[in-house]
Amino acid sequence: MKNKTPFSLIFYLWLGLFTCSQIFAQGNPILLTPPMGWNSWNIFKENINENQIKEIADAMVSTGMRDAGYIYLNLDDNWMASSRDENGKLRADPQRFPSGMKALGDYIHGKGLKFGIYGDRGIRTCHHYHANMNSRSGSYGLETQDAETFASWGVDYLKYDNCDPSPGSNMQEDYANMSNALKNTGRDIAFSICAWGFHNWMPNTGNLWRTTGDISDKWDLEPGFFRGIINIIDENEGLASHAKPGKWNDPDMLQIGNGGCTNEEYKTQMSMWSIMAAPLLAGNDIRKMSSAIKDILLNKEIIAVNQDSAGIQGRRIKSINGVEVWVKPLGDANSNRKAIALLNRNGNTANFTLDITDIGYSATEQISFRDLWDKKDLGYFSGEFSTSIPSHGTNVYITDREVFIHKVPGLIPATQFSVMSGIQIESDSLENSNIGYINDGDWAAYQISITTANSYILIAKLATNSSQNSFMDLTLSDGSQLGSFEIDHNKSQGWRDWYLDTIDISLP
Ligand code: GLA
Repeated sequence: MKNKTPFSLIFYLWLGLFTCSQIFAQGNPILLTPPMGWNSWNIFKENINENQIKEIADAMVSTGMRDAGYIYLNLDDNWMASSRDENGKLRADPQRFPSGMKALGDYIHGKGLKFGIYGDRGIRTCHHYHANMNSRSGSYGLETQDAETFASWGVDYLKYDNCDPSPGSNMQEDYANMSNALKNTGRDIAFSICAWGFHNWMPNTGNLWRTTGDISDKWDLEPGFFRGIINIIDENEGLASHAKPGKWNDPDMLQIGNGGCTNEEYKTQMSMWSIMAAPLLAGNDIRKMSSAIKDILLNKEIIAVNQDSAGIQGRRIKSINGVEVWVKPLGDANSNRKAIALLNRNGNTANFTLDITDIGYSATEQISFRDLWDKKDLGYFSGEFSTSIPSHGTNVYITDREVFIHKVPGLIPATQFSVMSGIQIESDSLENSNIGYINDGDWAAYQISITTANSYILIAKLATNSSQNSFMDLTLSDGSQLGSFEIDHNKSQGWRDWYLDTIDISLP
């Protein structure tokens, strides 16, 4: 646990540490983080209809799913009639979707959601291939027309399946044809390739691509087209290097809440899909989900791991007696934050000691652990971290080098800076940023990054143009006082006349 050895470390206090937002200026602007939403297939299969989908849209709002980030409402197979209209256009099944797809899209958009639909690269979609010999529900050769139809309905996302290919056709070309047709519509439509395995051309053609056969609501299955949660985790792992903002491995949709697995297994799906930066497409009947399932799908800290802007797919870095250690680096290149998953494949609870050097920190530094399922800060650990993990369960942590965020005595938004009044940032001759013009009632945030120990000498550059001494209090975020600098007017004759001063502080 926490190392109490006093250790004096002289470090520089940056006054005015403000980050600039980075503008992502590369590639397709769609899906810079993995898509989140709901898809009809896992729970309803081919049995979908207008009222039920509208109720799902309502439930996405009332359950808080939309506000947690689940914004795509995606129809899967069998929304369409098996025959096209008199102009050869795809059309909604008239019995099950009497108001048509444009109206449904409008309803979905009216709820603040995005509208996803399903198509196929071949002659017939997967369901129609089995159910209706005469169907022409696939888009082969009709890509331009179908993409325009989708765009005219306000479609935001297309899942494009791989059934019933036209004899002699080529998979890569078929997918490229639809990808180009979607781009030519001028509408931003995310393109989800569903061809049950990775090919090198896929990242250039789509925003995401299915890496495996279809997911079942099962933990573990014998090899075959239908896969269990643990099988898919294994198969998706090796493709990690292909994932990045706008481009995602798709290990298929969530089965969370569908009843075939334990809640621990569902927590593992949520945990591992997040660690693997996978699409989070719920596949349960969200109109009537239990609070336990809701808590799994709506765990905001786990979702934040999935949605981390770096878009790095986490990897398995170690496996010991059926317990796997997975690491997903978070944040930008300077960040030391990581999401760590400990996955227990065993049939019973595992007691496990993590060697902290395995997750990329040194053995001597203090590393903070926050448990994202228990929603608890566990404190600082050095060298080792021990815990227990339920059977088929996954513990997820955020770890970081020791970082304290304290406030003096609060936070000032950058928009409140002005040249002549309030706090402003100044550069000194060494190009250090300093904050200046602090008056009573002003406040600024500061951040200190420390890797070891808890007792320090804090050095600050101070300046004043006052004719009397003033005080700068350093206050922790809980309001308690860390220390105070007395700013000596005899040592500084103006705002830019800095001198160095030190105080001893002891961090909690
Ligand atoms: C394929 C896909 C599934 C689903 C069905 C629909 O099996 O892989 O995800 O879309 O088709 O028929």
